[in-house]
Amino acid sequence: MPVSDGPMAAGKVTFVGAGPGAADLITLRGARRIGEADVIIWAASLVTEECVTEHARTDADLVDSSQLTHDDVLAIYRRAVDEGLQVARVHSGDPSLWGAVQEQYDACVELGLDVEIVPGVSAFSAAAAVVGRELTIPEVAQSVILTRLEGGKTPMPPGERVREFARHGTTMAVFLSAARTSQLVEELRTGGYPDDTPVVVAYRTSWPDELTVRCRLDELVHEVRERKLWRHTLFLVGPALAAGGTRSHLYNAGHFHTFRKPDPAARRELRQRRAP
Ligand SMILES: C[S@@+](CC[C@H](N)C(=O)[O-])C[C@H]1O[C@@H](n2cnc3c(N)ncnc32)[C@H](O)[C@@H]1O
Repeated sequence: MPVSDGPMAAGKVTFVGAGPGAADLITLRGARRIGEADVIIWAASLVTEECVTEHARTDADLVDSSQLTHDDVLAIYRRAVDEGLQVARVHSGDPSLWGAVQEQYDACVELGLDVEIVPGVSAFSAAAAVVGRELTIPEVAQSVILTRLEGGKTPMPPGERVREFARHGTTMAVFLSAARTSQLVEELRTGGYPDDTPVVVAYRTSWPDELTVRCRLDELVHEVRERKLWRHTLFLVGPALAAGGTRSHLYNAGHFHTFRKPDPAARRELRQRRAP
């Protein structure tokens, strides 16, 4: 631990989004915070070791959070107050999604620590990148629903069942649900997705053993069972995963915005196409 001659520095906890796994998918700021930390708390099952060790100081304390309870983690935050430590709490993907970050953040504020959140690349955007798909295709899907299946330890709030979201027919990214794929397919069908809806199965995206499968909704259960992808798997679902859609107006020569004037002929053509 650092020994300081002057007044003790204020303790600080930074919640760092580590990205989906690969050490180079963390942000520069996230890597910097890991490099500044005296103590790094991270879940070895969810974040690759290199993601931490590549950026950490050699004298930093590395603590695997899978061995810790919430109270154990709080004890480290209290030490940060007493000893003026810099702590990096590393979460997989982006800390704003299913990271149990809020209770820790609030506890740190209450303890009087400086607190910061550094965003990260979520698994859903990493999975979209692997299959080379934009999730919002003009006139096909303009919304992305990030959700999980009901069940397990966390009940869903009213109105948030997968079947209810599925009624929108847009792109969905379904986290934490691979162990109950039959239930997921039933909910998606009940909500109105047809059997031939394209699905991407993303297992451990950006890890050395990553696996990506493209299939239809009616093939999903078989694909997941055959490969035993019960954990660390995300599903992207929806017509945007296959549709070409129409071309985005943003780059059309007839479209104008604050920084670009339209080409008059292209503008006329665009208007005619839009007319009913
Ligand atoms: C506790 S949640 C954390 C989500 C994370 N905060 C994020 O933004 O990606 C864990 C779930 O995220 C998904 N996940 C996280 N990393 C993944 C990866 N590298 N590949 C595929 N799915 C992943 C899986 O659905 C997994 O069950």
